[in-house]
Amino acid sequence: MKNIVILTGAGISAESGLKTFRDSDGLWEGYNIQDVATPEAWEHNPVMVQQFYNERRKTVLEAKPNAAHYALAALEEKYKVTIITQNIDDLHERAGSSTVVHLHGIITRSQSSINPELTYPIDGWEIKMGELCELGSQLRAHVVWFGEPVPMIEHAAMICTSADIFILIGSSLAVYPAAGLIGYVDRDVPKYLIDPNIPSVNVRGEVIKIREKATIGVPALVNELLKD
Ligand code: APR
Repeated sequence: MKNIVILTGAGISAESGLKTFRDSDGLWEGYNIQDVATPEAWEHNPVMVQQFYNERRKTVLEAKPNAAHYALAALEEKYKVTIITQNIDDLHERAGSSTVVHLHGIITRSQSSINPELTYPIDGWEIKMGELCELGSQLRAHVVWFGEPVPMIEHAAMICTSADIFILIGSSLAVYPAAGLIGYVDRDVPKYLIDPNIPSVNVRGEVIKIREKATIGVPALVNELLKD
């Protein structure tokens, strides 16, 4: 079975109603990212940061996977598919994809605020102040903030080196180390890029650019790949 590696960004969830980061003039749901997605923000105002992610989690739980998420799940009929996502939503999982690597964490789990390896399921949509991990520290969203390490990056890079086909969907490639992953894909591996505004990407070898939104471009490409 051929290996397909797919790197997704906020753009694949845009048509599920979840805002992207750089399409809304640098604000994320009206907040400056520096005020809610950094360890300093958590130190300075943990209640606001907790509330911000509770609101995001509520929106994620109310959102539904879209045709692009479902098309990627259908690829598993014929290929070994690994999705590497920068997204903190669980829409790939809810669409049926079985192997999803969350580079920036996943909002539906909580994590200890002193040991990021301790993560827990969340029942409902909020983490309350006073809810503690087994070490007695306040629980926070299991997401990677700016300035924090990206523990899954080496694993993701290794996955990219074994791709027979690589697909990039809905990412501006503005944030490293995620944006560097395409560099781990072999030169002669076919690379597809699906985005209504194709980002600049400097990689060796040819990139097939599909200037479409995800719900149009992804099902069309998946149909082609399932014919092969
Ligand atoms: N279909 C496909 N792509 C779309 C759609 C759509 N309907 N709408 C927007 N896009 C594209 C945009 O053109 C852009 O290239 O999705 C991309 C979104 O880019 P960003 O908002 O920068 O999101 P992303 O690349 O995922 O950001 C990476 O930055 O803020 C951090 O941790 C955060 O994971 C995030 C990371």
